[in-house]
Parts: sequence; C-alpha cells; structure tokens
Amino acid sequence: MASRSTARKHTLAEQADRFALYQEAVNAPADNIDFIERVYTEMRGAKPKVLKEDFCGTALLATEWAKRGPQRRSIGVDLDAEALAWARRHNLGPAGPAIASRIELVHADVLAPNEHRADVVCALNFSYFLLPSRQQLLAYFRNVRRSLRPRGLFVLDCIGGTEAVADYHERREYDGFSYLWDHSEFNPLDHTARCSISFAFPDGSRIEPAFAYRWRVWTLPELRDLLDEAGFAAPRVFWEYTDEEDGTTEYREIAHEQNQEIWLTYLVAST
Ligand SMILES: C[S@@+](CC[C@H](N)C(=O)[O-])C[C@H]1O[C@@H](n2cnc3c(N)ncnc32)[C@H](O)[C@@H]1O
Repeated sequence: MASRSTARKHTLAEQADRFALYQEAVNAPADNIDFIERVYTEMRGAKPKVLKEDFCGTALLATEWAKRGPQRRSIGVDLDAEALAWARRHNLGPAGPAIASRIELVHADVLAPNEHRADVVCALNFSYFLLPSRQQLLAYFRNVRRSLRPRGLFVLDCIGGTEAVADYHERREYDGFSYLWDHSEFNPLDHTARCSISFAFPDGSRIEPAFAYRWRVWTLPELRDLLDEAGFAAPRVFWEYTDEEDGTTEYREIAHEQNQEIWLTYLVAST
C-alpha cells in the first residue's frame, strides 16, 4: 500500500496541467476565428491575414489562426513568461514548424509601444478587465489603434448583466474534471471583483485556485466612450443569443437589448 506522502503525489490535481484544463474549459478559438473572419470579410470585402492576440496567455487563438492557411500570420502578446513557454511547447510545437514560423510570441505589456501591425487586434475573454483604471484602458486602446493596419479592426468581448456586478459562482463538468468559477468581493464603488478559476477532480483533489486575479467589470458605455476617445468610430455590438433547444449560440448585431443575469457581446471597432 502506498504511503500517505506517495499517495499525495499522485492525486489527479497533482498530475493535471492547469493551462491544458483552462484551454479545454474556457477557450473556443474556432468560434472566435469564425466570428472575426465573418465580420472582417463583411466589412472589408477580403479575408484578414494578420491577427494580433493581446493577453494571449497560451496563444491557442494565435495558433489556430496560423493553422487556417499559409497566408495567415499571428502575434501573441502576454506578460506571463510561463504561459508563453507553455504555448511554445504545447501549441506551437505540435502545430509543426511551418505553422509555428508564422506565429510570433512577444513577452511584453500590452501597454508598451510596439512595432507590430495587424489586420485584426483582439482582446478576448475580457482580458482587458485586468486594466482597472480609465487611464490604463485608454492607453491600451490608443496602443491598439496604432497597431492596426489601414482598415484594420479591433475585436473585443464584454460580459455584463446583473450577475456580473455581484458575487456569483459557476460550475461546469468536463471529462475528468470540474471547472469552478468564483466571482466575489464585487465592489460597486470601483466595479472590481476578485475572480478565481479552480479545478476539482473525481478523487476529491483540487487545484484551488488555478488562476486568481482582480478585475474591473467595465460597462459598455464606458468602453464606447474610451474607444471614441482613443480615436475609434462607434463600435458595432454583437450580442450572444443561445438557442434554448440545442444550446447553439449566435452573435447578432444589436442597437438595444434588455439586461439579463449574464450577457456576452463582441465589440468591433474600426478607425
Ligand atoms: C485571463 S488570461 C486570458 C488568456 C487568453 N486571452 C484567453 O482567452 O484564454 C489573461 C492573460 O492576460 C495577461 N496579462 C494581464 N495583464 C497584461 C498586460 N498588461 N499585458 C500583457 N498581458 C497581460 C496575463 O498574463 C494572462 O495570461
């Protein structure tokens, strides 16, 4: 029989890879790319070639983008050297040298000046919520504007609703693990909240938290004002609708909507 200490080393949590679980539970790069291609093609009459994925983390989106054809190039920017190293090993490496050679990973702050230019710059999974001040978000939007090629588009998503400005928890089941989202300590004075993602396993072990940060829940009017101030035209807003029967989702452009417990949108901004 294994000793207690040996047994502890073999919990499912200890064997798990938090970045791999995050990708499985959170990322949906094919859906993101389909949306970006659809909107860009409709607005610009051509397919986008270069994508800059800000806050790229493990750069799954940048990798999937480059897989969509030899014309495609991507740039991923993130502050976290560990996530970028993981990206190289687990996403770019397995994609093969031809695809990896068209992906550039940059270890940098998205607020820093940079020379990269892209047809589409994206900030997805609400990552810019990690910039809590107006000054920071404006500086970021200005930086994005400088990073766009002529006729380029900035695509960001947003989450809101009555639950997004309150404490709430979510649990989703996956093959071999549960994903736990915790949104707590919401402060109505500055709209910040503490967020954490944990993973729970059938043997009772957990990675808790796997990721934790404080973010600011930016509102759509604030984003529209800041985009305007940064020199963007009024963004198009695409609201997520879910088919109650089969669970499929689609994004439709809207000018007004009713508030909900949780809603998701894409914003598409051009200069
Ligand atoms: C919640 S993760 C999202 C990762 C990925 N975009 C996704 O959709 O799954 C946020 C990422 O933003 C990065 N990050 C936070 N602040 C940043 C900054 N100022 N510049 C660059 N990356 C930043 C973190 O290191 C982290 O990898």
